[in-house]
Amino acid sequence: LAQREIVWTIVVAGGSGERFGGPKQYEKLGPLRVLDHSMAAANEASDGVVLVVPPVDAEREGGVAGGTTRCGSVRAGLEAVPEEATIVCVHDAARPFATHAAFVAVVTAVAGGADGAVPGLPISDTVKRVDEGRRVIETLPRASLFAAQTPQAFRASVLREAHRDGGEATDDAALVEAVGGTVVVVDGDATNRKITCPDDLAWARSRIAEELR
Ligand code: C5P
Repeated sequence: LAQREIVWTIVVAGGSGERFGGPKQYEKLGPLRVLDHSMAAANEASDGVVLVVPPVDAEREGGVAGGTTRCGSVRAGLEAVPEEATIVCVHDAARPFATHAAFVAVVTAVAGGADGAVPGLPISDTVKRVDEGRRVIETLPRASLFAAQTPQAFRASVLREAHRDGGEATDDAALVEAVGGTVVVVDGDATNRKITCPDDLAWARSRIAEELR
């Protein structure tokens, strides 16, 4: 990893798994839990890691108490990241297959001068923007669209500034973009799928079973 940079990672596992139907971060994936896989990748790539979990689990998991939204949880994590950190990554605990290479790619892009870097996957479907009645407003130009994953890496000072006003978004890059930061997309990985629905966990378990065979 980049020289002269001090890299910390916030692993956010503070959700209640509403769409999943329970706290998916504690589901078993082979011998380890979903969040243990995510923590292992984060630890391997970072000088330090802050785990954010639902407040009731903080003591048991040795983590920081999360907020009611993902951004609130990231902010709780940021408060526990030491000031000496120069690059801060944010990673969803719900992405247990993030590779070391993914962390290296986003950190390298930030060490090279970007304010933020996110792994992105090209979109294979055509994407429509609709109104409340689902009437199509426009069809977006697919060639310029990417689906953003985590880990996302940021210049620490810019991430702190982006979160200062308590804004909400579905990822941290959006807040960095909103304060004028330069965010780049690096190659994502289809295997780095987010566990959102029970189907995703079934897919993840069959993948792990393959690996253990
Ligand atoms: O809900 P979503 O799938 O976007 O959540 C992404 C990640 O953010 C998950 O790992 C989840 O645990 C975390 N999260 C959080 N605090 C919340 C909501 C979500 O740490 N209040």
